[in-house]
Amino acid sequence: MPQGVLASYKQFLPINEDTPIFTLGEGQTPLIKSRNIVKTIGCEELYFKFEGCNPTGSFKDRGMVVAVAKAVEKGIEAIACASTGNTSASAAAYGAYLGLKTTIIVPQGNVATGKLAQAIAYGAHIAMIKGNFDSALNIARELADKHPIELVNSLNPNRIEGQKTAAFEIVDEIGKAPELLYIPVGNAGNISAYWKGFKEYFELGFSTNFPELHGYQAEGASPLVTGKVFENPETVATAIRIGNPASWDNAITARDESGGLIDSVTDEEIISTYQLLAASEGVFCEPASASSLAGLIKEKKNGTDFQNKIIVCVVTGNGLKDPENAIKISPASYGEYQNDYQSVEKVLIN
Ligand code: F0G
Repeated sequence: MPQGVLASYKQFLPINEDTPIFTLGEGQTPLIKSRNIVKTIGCEELYFKFEGCNPTGSFKDRGMVVAVAKAVEKGIEAIACASTGNTSASAAAYGAYLGLKTTIIVPQGNVATGKLAQAIAYGAHIAMIKGNFDSALNIARELADKHPIELVNSLNPNRIEGQKTAAFEIVDEIGKAPELLYIPVGNAGNISAYWKGFKEYFELGFSTNFPELHGYQAEGASPLVTGKVFENPETVATAIRIGNPASWDNAITARDESGGLIDSVTDEEIISTYQLLAASEGVFCEPASASSLAGLIKEKKNGTDFQNKIIVCVVTGNGLKDPENAIKISPASYGEYQNDYQSVEKVLIN
């Protein structure tokens, strides 16, 4: 298969002969088979679709490559987005590769360090606002309305087009759609994109079934669960700290058409799952990404029987994005030792 989302999935994307084809290596991420957590869940097979392996460390790259290609095709020289961190890192990377001016608007104090480091390194113009993601998105939309700038948030349909390819990869690898797919939900673009992907693959005859989609928000930022906008969303999972998702209606459609649900998990559940996933499966993700598996574990605790089910949890972003949380949560897992063999050997028996 050719490399990258544009070349690999040309026939499924809004691409014509004027669309530039390029890649930073996005897509074809691993579908990791669970060895340990699968036993607790009691299902037939459990997989983690590890989107942290994309070039900027999150699923955003799949959609960004399409959004940026379409902007360049139109002759646009500047892109902008609001972000909790990952969209901005991705926009900045593809903007740099294509020589575009990239402006990002992010909530001050609520973007994980690694994501900010990426935006700085890629040379984006960074506006930190004293407000949350929802305000940043309003500003970004106005900027794009008033200037010749392409908005590359997931409101841009080309983002959704690119992100749907993850659903194709899952079906191709398993040989069918899983029975259940768990996914973190923030601005709600990704759950909408997966549903579009599963539906298209079915309609084109590449699969014969659909998964139920189970979307999980953080309790302190769960408007799709309560049905009400959160004016002051709050969660340790800063990537999904969003009170008024832009793709609200599409997420509800994905939930209802798939026969699934959108529920929430607490910060405690997110953090304990985040640790479990790294320590028992070798998959180090950022906190928001653990909400999918946290949701599955919650359902298991509530008594759901998963026998004979094939389940996929989407793990959206890399743990290296948020080193502060990793260290803050397990501060005692390393010690200091004298500079000699005997004292270090004691590590083995501690
Ligand atoms: N997981 C991670 C790691 C994210 O960065 C995001 C969204 C989500 C899940 C939720 O996806 O918004 O499509 O429902 N991050 C956006 C950003 C908001 O700005 O990087 P969604």
